[in-house]
Amino acid sequence: MAKANLDKNPRDVARMFDDVGEKYDLTNSILSLGQDRLWRQRTRARLALQPGERVLDLAAGTAVSTVELAKSGAWVVACDFSPGMLAAGRGRNVPKVVGDGMHLPFADNSFDAVTISFGLRNIHDFRAGLQELSRVTKPGGRLVVAEFSTPIVPIFGRIYKEYLMRLLPKIARVVSSNPEAYEYLADSIRAWPDQETLAKEINANGWSDCGWQNLTLGITALHAAKKAKQ
Ligand SMILES: C[S@@+](CC[C@H](N)C(=O)[O-])C[C@H]1O[C@@H](n2cnc3c(N)ncnc32)[C@H](O)[C@@H]1O
Repeated sequence: MAKANLDKNPRDVARMFDDVGEKYDLTNSILSLGQDRLWRQRTRARLALQPGERVLDLAAGTAVSTVELAKSGAWVVACDFSPGMLAAGRGRNVPKVVGDGMHLPFADNSFDAVTISFGLRNIHDFRAGLQELSRVTKPGGRLVVAEFSTPIVPIFGRIYKEYLMRLLPKIARVVSSNPEAYEYLADSIRAWPDQETLAKEINANGWSDCGWQNLTLGITALHAAKKAKQ
């Protein structure tokens, strides 16, 4: 079974997700205690999508995030570099494209909005990923990043850390097809920048006016930014 390290070698990351694809949705809902549904609804609301808009859902995996976005009436394409994850979403009726977030297979200025849910943390060079997302977005277009973040209440943060380090790997051993992938998950969440640091990174890499909204006491944060009008 493949497990990526924190250097996030793209081949290891893609293989690791290929391994977890078929059970990804179920494992995700169990490990997030059902919160993932709420986080996806909030992502859609924050993007304020309009019918007919063209939207990119990068690192879409099984397209579970994409179908939620498509409820808006926008045209949303799922893009991911793991064929196994995309194949696990075969029953979801949205366009799907295999592509690497660091070299997207789309022209400059093609999307009204771009988004990435629980994927930016996995991209080998996430700054390059942010710049590439900006390249394919129209001037004035929107970005929303949904990602695990830093809990805002310290005592809750300590409980959450215990959950990540002790309980989550145990549950993953029961429900996941590749439990080691969930050790990587816990490690990568702990190594990820907090809300303010990520907002600065987003502004420094192709975006402006980045703000954020905490969900579930900061377990997840939605960062929203705009591409400057040229
Ligand atoms: C945790 S899953 C998120 C799936 C989905 N967006 C969701 O909300 O559940 C992360 C996804 O990021 C994808 N990924 C990681 N690095 C990538 C890259 N460089 N280009 C495209 N996809 C990437 C993985 O293949 C995986 O499907």
